[in-house]
Amino acid sequence: MKKGRVFYIALFITIFAAGWFLFGNVFSGAEMADDKKLSKGISYHREKEKMENIMQQNFAHVHTMLNGLIYSKSDIILDAAQLLRKHAYELKQLKPDKNLGNIKIYQFLAEDLIAHTDNIILAAKNNNLELISTELGKMVNECVTCHIKFRDKPIQK
Ligand code: HEC
Repeated sequence: MKKGRVFYIALFITIFAAGWFLFGNVFSGAEMADDKKLSKGISYHREKEKMENIMQQNFAHVHTMLNGLIYSKSDIILDAAQLLRKHAYELKQLKPDKNLGNIKIYQFLAEDLIAHTDNIILAAKNNNLELISTELGKMVNECVTCHIKFRDKPIQK
């Protein structure tokens, strides 16, 4: 009877400890490993200035695209989309302000930005202004989603 109780207590402790170990090392470890991997790419720290610089240019590119749409000039949209696409690649390597535990979502959103610019580039080459308009809307949605999740502060300039 007594022996049995000791056994169950020991079993309980073992299961609890194993669970704790798994949770700490496997589940949260996956995110940590990703963060470490990310920090190994381009001798990288916060690179805040680079990030801001890229973003300000992106904003200008979105503005240019909107101009192109309104004035029906797909050639200037093509140029802006190609530049923005390049930036989306760089963005993937940079560390956001917050929510680093969800860095995978951040990278996913950066990838999505690349996909949307690809669609805009294709539509611009085909001079399909309606499609550009739809894709531009989706792309701006991506900018906003990422800012809400990963940008620390509102833009105050
Ligand atoms: C994958 C995430 C992500 C996507 C997608 C994204 N941004 Fe950002 N953006 C950020 C983060 C993080 C910051 C904060 C940078 C900082 O202050 O260091 C930021 C900051 C900015 C800023 C402010 C820069 C400053 O001077 O403070 C602008 C403007 C901006 N983004 C424009 C855009 C536009 C336009 C798009 C879409 C074409 C876009 N962003 C897409 C993550 C993203």
